Amino acid sequence: MYYYKSIIDTIGNTPLVQLNSVNQGIKGTILAKVEYFNPGNSMKDRMAIKMIDDAEKRGELKPGGTIIEGTSGNTGMGLALGAIARGYKCIFTLADKQSQEKIDILRAMGAEVIVCPTSVAPEDPRSYYSVARRLNEEIENSLYPNQYDNLSNTEAHYETTGPEIWRDTDGKITHYAAGVGTGGSMCGVARYLKEQNPNVLTIGLDTYGSVFKKYKETGIFDEKEIYPYLTEGIGEDILPENVDFSLIDHFVKVTDKDAAIMTRRLSREEGLFVGWSCGSAVWGALEWGKEHLKEDDVMVIILPDHGTRYLGKVYSDTWMKDHGFLEEREYASAKNIINKQSGENALSTIYQGARVSEAIALFTSTGISQIPVVDDRDEFVGSLSDTKILTQLIENPELRNKAIKDVMHAPFQFVPVNTTLDVLSSMITRDNPAVMVRDASGLPRIITQHDLLESIAEG
Ligand SMILES: Cc1ncc(COP(=O)(O)O)c(C=O)c1O
Repeated sequence: MYYYKSIIDTIGNTPLVQLNSVNQGIKGTILAKVEYFNPGNSMKDRMAIKMIDDAEKRGELKPGGTIIEGTSGNTGMGLALGAIARGYKCIFTLADKQSQEKIDILRAMGAEVIVCPTSVAPEDPRSYYSVARRLNEEIENSLYPNQYDNLSNTEAHYETTGPEIWRDTDGKITHYAAGVGTGGSMCGVARYLKEQNPNVLTIGLDTYGSVFKKYKETGIFDEKEIYPYLTEGIGEDILPENVDFSLIDHFVKVTDKDAAIMTRRLSREEGLFVGWSCGSAVWGALEWGKEHLKEDDVMVIILPDHGTRYLGKVYSDTWMKDHGFLEEREYASAKNIINKQSGENALSTIYQGARVSEAIALFTSTGISQIPVVDDRDEFVGSLSDTKILTQLIENPELRNKAIKDVMHAPFQFVPVNTTLDVLSSMITRDNPAVMVRDASGLPRIITQHDLLESIAEG
């Protein structure tokens, strides 16, 4: 029999997957270490378990204890898995700007979640840092792991992630790239790899709004470098103990937008449904690689987590457009579409007093599939479509002798001439097979699914 004694025994041994598309034109073999294969869907499982192990060894956490951390995401999930496996309780404090999804995920794993106000300073007693610290003081046998300064974090990657990369590249790795947040995944792996081969170069990815790059290059902790940014997990406004700058050879800064666009490309072009900081890591590593990588080089980029937590952000077109990250495509408008229709064909309409059988005859003789219905003043009072009328006739063949006004549907909706193809395509459906628009001389025109397809086909 081959099985794991507990879910936490499945942590690690994540695959290296070659990039084949987003790196086109860049030399060398570029491999992604895909950390969402861990049971908590991120590399943070590794260090969360190590922090618990080491605390147990030091006697800081005893049976029945409570783990308390101010975390919103991946570390919380890893700690929750560890707590389940070892029988601890978990309390997480989060800022109220965090999505409900993240809160629900941690609660689903049995954790107690305390939501604290975002708009207070870290030292305010109501902040999620202060609440976590206070609970740690008040609750006996509780552990506050503090992933930033707890060196078990780096050690976890030194003991597992580094050796896996060395083993799976057969010692041929020449470059290692990772986003830097707490610094654990960069520095633990870097230390291991450089011990095996001091020539392995390391590239740390940083965000705009973070202090790391400038600090590495000048030794100055420049507060002017600090400003709000959106990418989650990398970049800091502090210098965590886990960041050992001597192990990071170069830093590349990545914008929120470049990272977001690359994240979407990794999903669509490589099939890697990954998180936002993965886009930062790949964009930054490739930017560096364009100039420096050679044919025989082997670069490994660590991809920290999975895409599900980012569905409402980088994977949402609306969110991307709202943040100016997605260039609006130039779509054809209703005006372009009616200008392309053959001009001689005046709009066909049918009178509401005519029989249904006459409409069927019109559909079959002209090949049109939908028609506006007018009253005796030529006002649009309804609509007919061949598919809908067919369904009605199958149920009740006698309808063929009825007047159209007894079976017709709502009139087709009029839209402005500047309505774009993407909007039109969401309005024209099986239940609503056409929309109407007025041309430059005020005459009514119809736009159907057929027109949309023709417009898309012509590009
Ligand atoms: C999504 C994500 N990316 C990157 C990182 C950075 O990794 P590290 O903390 O090992 O520097 C983190 C850490 O919080 C993360 O959650």
